[in-house]
Amino acid sequence: MRLNKYLAECDVASRRKAEEFIYEGRISVNGKVIREFAFIVDEFKNTVKLDDKKLRIKNKEYYLLYKPKGIITSTNDERGRATVVDLVKTRSVIFPVGRLDYNTTGILLLTNDGDFANYLLHPKNKFQREYIAKLDKPLKLNDANKLLQGVYLDKKKSKFIDLKIKSNEYPRRVNVLTEEGRNHFVKIMFSKIGYRVNELKRIRFGIFSLGRLVPGQYRKLTEDEVQYIKKQYEKN
Ligand code: URA
Repeated sequence: MRLNKYLAECDVASRRKAEEFIYEGRISVNGKVIREFAFIVDEFKNTVKLDDKKLRIKNKEYYLLYKPKGIITSTNDERGRATVVDLVKTRSVIFPVGRLDYNTTGILLLTNDGDFANYLLHPKNKFQREYIAKLDKPLKLNDANKLLQGVYLDKKKSKFIDLKIKSNEYPRRVNVLTEEGRNHFVKIMFSKIGYRVNELKRIRFGIFSLGRLVPGQYRKLTEDEVQYIKKQYEKN
């Protein structure tokens, strides 16, 4: 395995940070400082160190949680409340990929793989998020068009990719499609045109959907799902 990939797999740092360590001469293989990113490491036979710290490859873990209401998206809480991390049984130190509000439900990925999370969250990669939102009043077509054309948030033009009323019977319930991961994005967008979001559920994030999970349940991502995402950023 190439040295830069090996370091990323050890969880010492993101791939970029790992390359900085190599460049700075802080990485040694069998006692010899190595400055080549492409140096081939034998993960079973070689001893790789960052300064004096011996490094070992860590198992990467990837979960898809159906986040229930009333749970905070964080790794720990000062007030001792349950967090999304508490819902997943693992000994690894995992963290949520992005965040959902306390009362938002739906898809949330958790992992201990920083590169994977960064890739999914980076705005330039435009991963789509799909939500069902319940509003405080029926959505008028004219207002829906405003959000599709774009409104200004913090001087930045922001828009929904798609916005549909689910059925004429329930005009307060809408489907929202965004490529934005900013915190509270859906609620802020609606509040900008005078609506309040009373309930919010994320039903899709990129290629991931809830399937048969029920609130509070989770599953591991399949090897195919993980490789599908990884292939995209390893190309770059
Ligand atoms: N947008 C919001 O307003 N809240 C969420 O939890 C997710 C997206």
